[in-house]
Amino acid sequence: MYNSRISGLGFYVPERVVTNDELSQLMETNDAWIRERTGIEQRRYADPAHDTTTSMGVRAAQMAIERAGLGPEDIDFVVFATLSPDYYFPGPGVLVQRDLGLRTVGAVDIRNQCSGFVYGVSLADQYVKTGMYKHVLVIGSELHSKGLDMTTRGRGVSVIFGDGAGAAVLSREEDPTRGILSTHLHSEGQHAEELSLLAPGMGKRWVNDILRDNDPEDTSYYPYMNGQFVFKNAVVRFSEVIMEGLKANGLKATDIDMLIPHQANLRISQFIQQKFGLSDEQVYNNIMQYGNTTAASIPIALTEAWEKGKVAEGDLVVLAAFGSGFTWGSAIIRW
Ligand code: UT7
Repeated sequence: MYNSRISGLGFYVPERVVTNDELSQLMETNDAWIRERTGIEQRRYADPAHDTTTSMGVRAAQMAIERAGLGPEDIDFVVFATLSPDYYFPGPGVLVQRDLGLRTVGAVDIRNQCSGFVYGVSLADQYVKTGMYKHVLVIGSELHSKGLDMTTRGRGVSVIFGDGAGAAVLSREEDPTRGILSTHLHSEGQHAEELSLLAPGMGKRWVNDILRDNDPEDTSYYPYMNGQFVFKNAVVRFSEVIMEGLKANGLKATDIDMLIPHQANLRISQFIQQKFGLSDEQVYNNIMQYGNTTAASIPIALTEAWEKGKVAEGDLVVLAAFGSGFTWGSAIIRW
């Protein structure tokens, strides 16, 4: 048995900055409401002529592979987490295999929304731990802006989300005290529809149904969120899963050097920070600049924190996420 460690990190966000004021020209919203409720000041929107979920993921991955001191030929497996894939099928994992010119390695797509990256890290960790693979590429990428309801009807959801991608390479680590110490995953499908996008899908409405009905009131192909219900569940599950991870390793909240929470809402991050008695320096937030980028939020935040020297060798780093499914998870890492 080996451990896995994060050997390289990268991220990519599109150039176009969209401020809260810009959104207020499209729908009835305002900068004060968005800042106060979410902490978001701006987000990035992809240029649909150039950026796709896959292309952004590829750019983040290129950076991560290079920083790991590796080349595309070294990657043994691809894990791609997204809720906004380029195609209904095939998923973006195989597109990364093609676009990065990887060997004909396996590629898998993860459908766990905001916790997609933590699930991806957990999956990759198992492959590396068992010795099956030496270097696994994990990508989280989202292109939300193309699929949001940019009218007042959709404002409760649309103002929150942004586009971007982050990536990590997980590599074999011989030192058992270093790297990913453990991961903890959960789901509660009872609340599946509370944060969802129901169509097109074979269960409710396929494209044929949407075209046939041609109903301007049909919102089933826009994301739906029962905001307050999701918020209440998020604060409980975030706390539980961080605690579970610490306990599993005989650690306490005071051992945490850096917490990287999924960037769902700055108020959620602040609640967790307070609950665990952490200082501003011990929690990394960038939702103010990028909004909620779902599966990409943790790898973007982790990469930024690392680039700024806020994550150093020997540090205890905790990743934690909660989102649609509901699904949630944590990863406890000795850097
Ligand atoms: O990443 C996955 C996990 N996601 C989360 O964890 C998100 C959890 N939820 C949240 O972050 C918050 O619930 C939101 C930020 C989404 C919403 O904040 P809220 O404080 O729960 O607002 P609300 O939905 O209860 O709406 C309050 C009011 C409503 O007006 P009335 O009914 O009180 O007159 C909304 O219509 O705010 C109105 N509203 C807005 N006003 C201006 C909703 N969206 C907007 C908006 N601008 N964008």
